[in-house]
Amino acid sequence: MRMSEKPVVQIDHAIHSLGPCNYPSPFPLTTRAGLRTTHFVHDRAGVALDSAPWEGSEAKPLLLERAGPRERLFFNPGVTRVAIVTCGGLCPGINNVVRSIVLELSYRYRVQSIVGIRFGYEGLDPTTRLPPVELGPEVVNRIHKEGGSILGVSRGKHEVSRLVDQLVQDKTDILFAIGGDGTLRGARDIHQEISRRGAPIAVVGIPKTIDNDVLFVDKTLGFDTAVEFAREAIDAAHVEATSARNGIGLVKLMGRDSGFIAASATLASDEVNFCLVPEVPFRLDGDFGLLASIERRLAQRGHAVIVVAEGCGAALVGQDSERDPSGNPRYSSLGSDIGVHLRGAIQEYFNSKKVQTTLKYIDPSYMIRSVRANATDSILCDELGRNAVHAAMAGKTGVLVARIHGTFAHVPLEAATLGRKRIDPDGEYWRSVLESTGQTPLI
Ligand code: F6P
Repeated sequence: MRMSEKPVVQIDHAIHSLGPCNYPSPFPLTTRAGLRTTHFVHDRAGVALDSAPWEGSEAKPLLLERAGPRERLFFNPGVTRVAIVTCGGLCPGINNVVRSIVLELSYRYRVQSIVGIRFGYEGLDPTTRLPPVELGPEVVNRIHKEGGSILGVSRGKHEVSRLVDQLVQDKTDILFAIGGDGTLRGARDIHQEISRRGAPIAVVGIPKTIDNDVLFVDKTLGFDTAVEFAREAIDAAHVEATSARNGIGLVKLMGRDSGFIAASATLASDEVNFCLVPEVPFRLDGDFGLLASIERRLAQRGHAVIVVAEGCGAALVGQDSERDPSGNPRYSSLGSDIGVHLRGAIQEYFNSKKVQTTLKYIDPSYMIRSVRANATDSILCDELGRNAVHAAMAGKTGVLVARIHGTFAHVPLEAATLGRKRIDPDGEYWRSVLESTGQTPLI
């Protein structure tokens, strides 16, 4: 099932290219049909960005360039210098992508110079720089068995011209930036500065965040694994709730501006009665508010399970929460934690009504994102890593490599950073959540 997103804004879908491709690909592929071997992908091969707005109309869907190995390369593999940076919060699968990029570059393209930038863009900024680490097959051999990032991550803004100065000084040809919306905006700015200077450096982004909120992308890497672990927290809450008289299980999950983790974990568990996400407003009070709805649920079934996304209570707990170094609100900081706030409100409500309840609050917090990638994410990471290498070697730049409607494609970073993907409250994905929980509008 496709996760809904708001209608597409007008985007420029043309992919920037560094120039003519003068080198042959080392791949034993073909462009001729019927030879029983897979094919090079032609730049004219397209993936429809969003068919929905064109249904029933004459207009054609916007086509994105399809990802995959190109017959001709811009970079001469033997002398190409590559850097990889991982930024933002941790996420399952980062090491898998790093490993896939390194192995594809080393074994398939025979690139010999690959380095890893330490601790995100901070490690690239000459004012905070740490020496990069040399990467090769031996170094990355087993890293996909571990969560986290062997390179380290960081948040925060850096002066773009300083980052580009460093790339030029290091004679970097290709920069792979693995991260979420902040990282990708950074990659877009780096690409723009490089273009302004006319430097032949490719910048390729790979979408990584447990929040799954990167525009146009089917799924960001790490999301599936985070959902799997979030489901365990919900299952525990259900066990606790059903083992007590008027038991209430309350689970708070990450998800800053989009509620995909909460919604998908709700669907996966199928034990949730109220799922609260930032995209769908709710009220605590009133006949149809959350508190009265929980009361009715307890009267009917004797237990209730509630899942709340961390960002959904901004209106309830106040917008003026603390900010992280990238300027994002920290909804889990003291005083703005929606989980803690809801726990207090629910307990107070039932105490005031002299109804005895047992509330168990579970916040798995960072545990859902520090684990190693599950099988589905491992496959996605590997495919993303390899397709990112194909794009970069062919001189594509300012590009995000992502799976769109099941096919890997090139999305211009300018387009991918126009906004965030969010749940469409009128879409089929949210309707499934409502059918699973049975909740009515809490307003
Ligand atoms: O962006 C992904 C995410 O996991 C969000 O869900 C969460 O709000 C944020 O990172 C917290 O990350 P950190 O505490 O590392 O800044």
